[in-house]
Amino acid sequence: MKKSIRTFLKTAGKDKIARSANPAIVRASTIYFKTMQEMREHQNKISKGKKVSHWDYGRQGSQTTIKLQNIIKELEQSYDVFLTQTGFGAVALSIMSVCRPGDEIVISDCVYRPTQKLTSQLLKEFNIKAIWYDPNSFDDLKNKVTKKTKLIYVENPGSNSFEFQDLGKIVSLAKRKNIYTAIDNTWATAYYFKPIKLGFDLSITSATKYYSGHSDVMGGTLAVSKKVYKKVWWYNHLSGYRLSADDAYLVIRGIRTLDLRMDKHHQNTLKVIKWLSKQKKVAKILYPYKPSSKIYKLWKKYYSGASGLLSIIIKSKSKNSVYSFVNSLKLFGIGYSWGGYSSLVVYNDPVEMGDRHFFKIEKNHHLIRLHVGLEDTNDLINDLKNALRKVKQ
Ligand SMILES: Cc1ncc(COP(=O)(O)O)c(C=O)c1O
Repeated sequence: MKKSIRTFLKTAGKDKIARSANPAIVRASTIYFKTMQEMREHQNKISKGKKVSHWDYGRQGSQTTIKLQNIIKELEQSYDVFLTQTGFGAVALSIMSVCRPGDEIVISDCVYRPTQKLTSQLLKEFNIKAIWYDPNSFDDLKNKVTKKTKLIYVENPGSNSFEFQDLGKIVSLAKRKNIYTAIDNTWATAYYFKPIKLGFDLSITSATKYYSGHSDVMGGTLAVSKKVYKKVWWYNHLSGYRLSADDAYLVIRGIRTLDLRMDKHHQNTLKVIKWLSKQKKVAKILYPYKPSSKIYKLWKKYYSGASGLLSIIIKSKSKNSVYSFVNSLKLFGIGYSWGGYSSLVVYNDPVEMGDRHFFKIEKNHHLIRLHVGLEDTNDLINDLKNALRKVKQ
């Protein structure tokens, strides 16, 4: 019988040869071969895409990174996995592997801001056009697809604004038109949603967030379908993306408890939301928690759980008082890179939102992003309660 993913995550990092509960950190640029013939045979195997237990040169990684690749491959149920030094590296690797001059990329308006910049500014210099679609309208996406569309790029849910899209419809459309599909799945991780299984070609996760889970390492994973594997392999090979053995080790250490942490983030978030939803100063909560809402239905259709990241809209005529609310929080630290064990907060100014074409915040509404960590929810709620007093309506 196939073991459950919970058991797999607890056992996959073990090193049977070293009889250790943890994998070895193999730091190497040079990898030795006994003879030239052995070296050439090994290189031949690598170029044919055969499974190998070590590479021929450290730039491609070591046993430690291979171990992490295999863990993510199982978690994602993908054809293969590439590792990058940051999550954003995985975003860039996905796009640059498949798009070429003259192509168009149809991209959802709600993507992470640096992804907006990469596609609208850098790709422009390579004559690749980014066309933005409204994440709340599948028809808008459909109407923007042309003969030049090479890639549909989705981030689900939307960065800071938490739009949920009908992912199955997007995949079906792309398959009919022979277009590649990429999704940034950092919010849910492959523990709650497996994009490659649904039919996406490129599944991006910032390992900096939930995979590592302890706010002490940066990394990215790009899981791929068979259809794009060779393109990504080629671009990756020629661009030098890699994750160090030490960082891979830290992600392996963190990912062991991914299931426990994710489930707890979800439970804690629902408890905090239950309280927040009764507060007059909180006009809206952007998270799939209300069964009657559109985003809940779309989330439920594809996801088996939700993480600890949400936004709330606070109503106030005084922006300063909302800044005071954020500044007075003691357990929610002001900072980026959610997905760690602790709670975080950021006031979303244009610097976080970027140039959005389809999202508008009403006058006197303020968008606050919260990450609900693994602390006791009674303490988190008390913290929010005290800080919310600062908001002047
Ligand atoms: C949705 C999303 N994707 C990708 C990234 C980039 O990840 P990293 O910070 O590891 O480069 C982030 C970072 O915040 C993110 O929020």
